[in-house]
Amino acid sequence: MAKEIKVLVTGAAGQIGYSLVFPIANGDVFGKDQPVHVVLLDIPQMIEAVKGVVLELQDCALPSLKNITATSDVQEAFTDIDYAILVGAMPRRQGMERKDLLKANAKIFEQQGKALDTYSKKTVKVLVVGNPANTNCLIAATCAPSIPKKNFTCLTRLDHNRAKAQIAGRLGITANCVENAIIWGNHSSTQYPDVSHASVKIGDKPKQSVVEAVKDDAWLNGDFITTVQKRGAAIIEARKLSSAMSAAKAICDHIRDWHFGTPAGQWTSMGIYSTGKFYEIAENLIYSMPVYIDDQGCYKVEDGLSISDASRARMDATANELLAERNDAFTFLQGQSS
Ligand code: NAD
Ligand code: LMR
Repeated sequence: MAKEIKVLVTGAAGQIGYSLVFPIANGDVFGKDQPVHVVLLDIPQMIEAVKGVVLELQDCALPSLKNITATSDVQEAFTDIDYAILVGAMPRRQGMERKDLLKANAKIFEQQGKALDTYSKKTVKVLVVGNPANTNCLIAATCAPSIPKKNFTCLTRLDHNRAKAQIAGRLGITANCVENAIIWGNHSSTQYPDVSHASVKIGDKPKQSVVEAVKDDAWLNGDFITTVQKRGAAIIEARKLSSAMSAAKAICDHIRDWHFGTPAGQWTSMGIYSTGKFYEIAENLIYSMPVYIDDQGCYKVEDGLSISDASRARMDATANELLAERNDAFTFLQGQSS
């Protein structure tokens, strides 16, 4: 039998946590034959609620669930983990931008970055979900200098899935028929959902580009982009709570692809550490880009795409927002520690 995979989920008592732990424990992410040890972290005030999640997980009687740990102790939670899914953070409410959460959440990711550095395996793969996800991920990576920067990612798969679903809805097909959408930049309203390199397969017809199939450049350059950019806010307005089911699904997609690899010829979108070598994006930002992932879990940026002037302007706008968030975050954290 395969060696167990130890997966930490922070914010386990929250709404995303509740939707996320079942598919992980059920083998929907790492495979049905792969034993998993699920570690659930939340703050001390929420530990009773986490215990309730544990009771339910036990009652699911899942064959791949080898072990469960519920804790509010950071050292216990981060020790020897293979994957860290960092969800625990304050969500935004109606009328807020995600970057308004920076001050509320930056300290969490500073502490958890240090915990990764001190207690986790150097091979741990980290997915930051708590908002503002890109900048929180950068904080965690900076605070964990002993772990390679390529092991730190943030979630833009939800935006990627939203982009695919919008195109599919427009064409009356299902989202799996849409390939190679890209989310560039920040998981915020400046993100750039780009389908200029995407393709669709409609029925028996040969694959064609999304631009050819949709035949409506005004929509693709207008409402399509703003709908994806503002989808999180639309959900908050309707539910009075931020996305949870779709966020958990996107987290599973992200981790599954990072573990097993992307399907042949298809990239996905992940917020990754920018080395300054790709698409003229500044170094030391977590910036979403198209990546292929191999079956060993190593990703490679698709770096050969042509970029139009209009795309360039959008990619730079979201990079500039990330530069400003980085500045705000580290100024704030330095002020706290002095
Ligand atoms: P929630 O309020 O339902 O749950 C958050 C949980 O985190 C709570 O149980 C809270 O006690 C816990 N928590 C707070 N501080 C913690 C800490 N230091 N350590 C461990 N746990 C801690 O929120 P939610 O709806 O589950 O959302 C969680 C975060 O995910 C929010 O920041 C939200 O904005 C973000 N989010 C991101 C995406 C994305 O695509 N990147 C999508 C949806 C939500
Ligand atoms: C989302 O995109 O749904 C989440 O980031 C929650 C939010 O604040 O929009």
